[in-house]
Amino acid sequence: MTRRVGEAREPLRGELTVPGDKSIGHRAVIFGAIAEGPTRVHNLSGGEDNRRTVEAFRSLGVPIRSEGGALWIEGRGFEGLKAPAATIDCGNSGTTMRLLSGVLAGRSFESRLDGDDSLRRRPMRRIIEPLALMGARIESRDGSGLAPLRIHGGALKAIDYRMPMASAQVKSSILLAGLQAEGVTTVTEPQLSRDHTELMIRGFGGEVSAEGTRVSVRGGQRLRGREVRVPGDISSAAFFLVAASIVPGSEIVIREVGINPTRAGVIEILERMGASIERLEPRVETGEAVADLRVRYRPLEGVDIGPEFSARTIDEYPVLAVAAAAARGTTAMRGVKELRYKESDRIAAMTEGLRRLGVEVEERDDGMVIQGRGRLRGAAVRSFGDHRVAMALAVAGLVCDGGAEIDDAGCVAISFPGFFELLDGLRSQ
Ligand code: S3P
Repeated sequence: MTRRVGEAREPLRGELTVPGDKSIGHRAVIFGAIAEGPTRVHNLSGGEDNRRTVEAFRSLGVPIRSEGGALWIEGRGFEGLKAPAATIDCGNSGTTMRLLSGVLAGRSFESRLDGDDSLRRRPMRRIIEPLALMGARIESRDGSGLAPLRIHGGALKAIDYRMPMASAQVKSSILLAGLQAEGVTTVTEPQLSRDHTELMIRGFGGEVSAEGTRVSVRGGQRLRGREVRVPGDISSAAFFLVAASIVPGSEIVIREVGINPTRAGVIEILERMGASIERLEPRVETGEAVADLRVRYRPLEGVDIGPEFSARTIDEYPVLAVAAAAARGTTAMRGVKELRYKESDRIAAMTEGLRRLGVEVEERDDGMVIQGRGRLRGAAVRSFGDHRVAMALAVAGLVCDGGAEIDDAGCVAISFPGFFELLDGLRSQ
């Protein structure tokens, strides 16, 4: 499906909510399934990725039903998981595949995980290696470290593991295996990645210790089911933070957005670029920081975004690249090679997209240098089937002379069904 986004001739106005946080949603389902007793999850995103995790646990024998707008999960502990009858299809979702591998590494049955073409290209050795050190046997396609994976789980022993990259998926996979291992498992990251798994372990009555970038968990703990309210996804809100910041005269409020500090780099960077973002009614819901965000148009300036931002901003670089293109001056993004291993190679995808829109972009191995030009040139652009690239380029369309046309735009449903309708709604107020 090709989608046209016309240039915005009027300011964006209105209030909106975005879907539940995708990362927290995956974890709410996983912890509900491995805990004992019922868990009720409110505001789970209707996106494709979270649905994959729900389906995966159904195929592992966990009763999960929707009722009254919430998801009910009847967890029976790790022991309650049963061998799946067929290969588990993780679709486009790296989080499903990597976190599920950590769960299955400790189960004494064989399971197979597969995904779509994008997921089959993404590196899995980063979880295979530590899980193998703990005692699991995981085979990848021809030993390439790529999916499909075949997991022979069983008794695990704790490890003290130093991760080569900052990655919440890898950290979480190891912690989920660690909860089933004998002894205390410790992971250390080069930079602190999102800590939703750590917060969720505590929320479900478990213990986890975290000191800087070092996290430890004891195996054999009992987790208890609970009620979880998933906050709005800051990674989805980011498209609107940028949209309202670059369309002159705009003012919008995004309700109930998760602003966990390990995720909120995008707000910090936009503020450094000159954006006006107010945090209204900051509060804590199910252990996660939440606020309403009011964004008003302000002209943006280019900035230097160093590697220290990478972990807490990782999914927002595509839309930040659009903010940079619409800003005045130069923006450099450095130390983000991880962007090349996402749903698409996001450095290559955004370089191509922005160049088509007339922006001067220098592509680097681990980042981009973008020359801001204010208004962009209308053109047809490619999403590469990547939901965040599609939505970032849609936001760019708002400031293109003549708008932009995004190919394969249906992929936004991976994380944000209804994105285009919500954007349209802000234009007609
Ligand atoms: C996620 C972690 C990040 C992020 C992804 C979701 C998670 O991936 O890009 O969208 O839920 O743990 P990495 O751990 O590979 O950096």
